[in-house]
Amino acid sequence: MAFQSVLIMLFLAPVVSCLDNGLALTPPMGWMQWERFRCNLDCKNDPENCISEKLIMEMADRMEKDGYRDAGYTYISLDDCWMSTKRDSQGILQPDKDRFPHGIKYLADYVHSKGLKLGIYLDMGLETCKGFPGSKFSIQRDALSLKEWGIDMLKMDCCEGGSDMVTGYEVMGFYLNQTGRRIAFSCSYPACIGDMFSDYAGVAKLCNSWRNAIDITDSWERVYEVMKFYSKDVYSFSKFAGPGHWNDPDEMIVGDYSLSDGQERSQFGMWAMFAAPLFMSVDLRNIKSSSRNLLLNKRVIDINQDPLGAQATNVWQRPWTDQGVVTGWVKPLMKKGSYAIALLNGSAYGMPAPINITLNDLGLNNEGGYNITETFEGKFLGPYKLREPILLKIHAHDTFLATVVPL
Ligand code: GLA
Repeated sequence: MAFQSVLIMLFLAPVVSCLDNGLALTPPMGWMQWERFRCNLDCKNDPENCISEKLIMEMADRMEKDGYRDAGYTYISLDDCWMSTKRDSQGILQPDKDRFPHGIKYLADYVHSKGLKLGIYLDMGLETCKGFPGSKFSIQRDALSLKEWGIDMLKMDCCEGGSDMVTGYEVMGFYLNQTGRRIAFSCSYPACIGDMFSDYAGVAKLCNSWRNAIDITDSWERVYEVMKFYSKDVYSFSKFAGPGHWNDPDEMIVGDYSLSDGQERSQFGMWAMFAAPLFMSVDLRNIKSSSRNLLLNKRVIDINQDPLGAQATNVWQRPWTDQGVVTGWVKPLMKKGSYAIALLNGSAYGMPAPINITLNDLGLNNEGGYNITETFEGKFLGPYKLREPILLKIHAHDTFLATVVPL
């Protein structure tokens, strides 16, 4: 059986061309279990927070009722730890029976009845990162299960993926196409390959989005580490973002435990600038209202969802004391000659960073100047000449975000 599957994989590899699902023309948005709820299996002692159909259904209810769905957050995604430890007697994946007593199809139907889409997690290796059954020798069968259950997005992880894992992803892409169901494909192999990974052209053909940086945890240091990775832009990976295919810096922790208001603005604002998939990983049943309002901020979402699909690049940098740097970022927008700009204060120095910058410093070149509108509050700051100083004060770890339209 195993040997046969390897042969199938080898045989198919050359004929696999690219994903053909027409999905994710703007970055996908939704909610994902992993960062906030992890692999909590303890439904006996922690029924509110364990990975179960109850948790997903309650989040789906909140997404519908509290405005997230209507703001664009349409995917709700299970991550690792939804499975039973064993496939059934026919080799078919099954959910844990106690935590998902009605099965995945039932959950998908429920999620669909709320106008949402269901995402699920598989792993290309022998086992998932948390030791549940992997898909390595069952790719075709597992793709079929996704179709039968009514799944809308697959996150394919790569723990224990082995040296042939990229071929495995190609085979999965092939079988996803074969299902005839439109299933968005999120691939983790660039992150598993790590610093050695350079084939962004390949992953952009095969996957709707791909993880390429370290896992997010509930910590500003980790969020900032990911931002620094995006600022380095090794192999110019930003150029491979576009309609249907996105770099994925992992989930947002807005509303969790570790970020200040300014840091929340920075993560959300920069993820918007990165044209990143916007997946909240937070308990929507008791999120504080400031975080909720931020996640629902239409102006920020519009930057993320801009149909041009360009990813921001880091074009400017200044130290602010010995405690870090302020970085300047530019994201071209669909409307001709317009941009989103961000100034991120990565410095921990207590006094706000005094900024004196011109749009020309950020590489913009319309001699007539630009109208600038700040994004978080939606405040019109006025027309600015190309070389006219913009004077700002940006607090530690906060971000100034704006859109600029040529005059
Ligand atoms: C890896 C992934 C995470 C999450 C876990 C699940 O670490 O990068 O996003 O899916 O596995 O075990």
